[in-house]
Amino acid sequence: MVKRIGILTSGGDAPGMNAAIRAVTRVAIHAGIEVYGIYDGYAGLVNDKIEKLTRSDVSDILDRGGTKLGSARLPEFKEESVRLKAVENLKKHGIEALVVIGGDGSYRGALALTEMGINCIGLPGTIDNDITCSDVSIGFDTALETIVDAVDKLRDTSSSHQRCSIVEVMGNRCGDLALWAGLATGAEIVVTQQTGFEETEVLEQLQYFYEIAKKRHAIVIISEKITDVHAFAKKVSLNTGYSGRATILGHVQRGGSPTPVDRVLASQMGEKAVDLLMAGKGGLCVAKQNNQIVAVPISEALDMPRSSRKALQNLFNRLI
Ligand code: F6P
Repeated sequence: MVKRIGILTSGGDAPGMNAAIRAVTRVAIHAGIEVYGIYDGYAGLVNDKIEKLTRSDVSDILDRGGTKLGSARLPEFKEESVRLKAVENLKKHGIEALVVIGGDGSYRGALALTEMGINCIGLPGTIDNDITCSDVSIGFDTALETIVDAVDKLRDTSSSHQRCSIVEVMGNRCGDLALWAGLATGAEIVVTQQTGFEETEVLEQLQYFYEIAKKRHAIVIISEKITDVHAFAKKVSLNTGYSGRATILGHVQRGGSPTPVDRVLASQMGEKAVDLLMAGKGGLCVAKQNNQIVAVPISEALDMPRSSRKALQNLFNRLI
């Protein structure tokens, strides 16, 4: 059986990563496995920033945002020569297998390492919820709560001033944060890569809300990387009865103490990752499907369709 494993967090950090680090470390130590923390993601693997973790090293982190191990993006990890250095460092420390907590880019690295003989298990740690094999990723619930809190506040002031608040949220190319936040806050309009963005149509809708529906405010939640929200807010002021104001929530969405839901999810997924490594498995990622914690081949994980999105979008449209 595996005797020594490593753990790293990679890509954009997400609340709950620390809870996952704690779970992996403690479950493994309970099973008699040594755990090594790799600092700053794949960069730390390549640069040999690797240290043994004890049970108490992961005390007092369950409720902390960010990641104790640090994170980084390392596009060069696609190159085999860079990965060979990583494998060399792992072998030097006697680390036979790895838990990788991160998003899709991190999963690709984990798959490549598995193919080079180091069993890797991926955990979905990203606020974006764009790992489609899992109903939910670690950090999504917390980021959503942050967004909902901000939008509720924006609604107060928008309503006082008959304004339209345009709120840009993260998500990379995935509209889940925007859509869920739209549902949870009763936003008037949600724009995502999945809905598409017809600017004139949105302006017309807003004018309808102002003139016909007589709404004192309107909230538009829009995924990042779609349009310049400040320029769009000016168009709202020019073309509708509302005065437009844009708010980019930005990296505040990535921070904060993880919600209980994220803490429990991260703990369950961490446990599953260790169990899989103990069973000699690699090239898999942990997912939540229909309330079960399951394992899915990484090669299939990223392109699975998620039908629940369509249902939620339909629900949003029926609630306006
Ligand atoms: O993947 C998480 C995420 O926060 C995305 O939502 C966003 O597009 C990106 O990371 C931002 O990356 P960075 O922190 O490197 O600017």
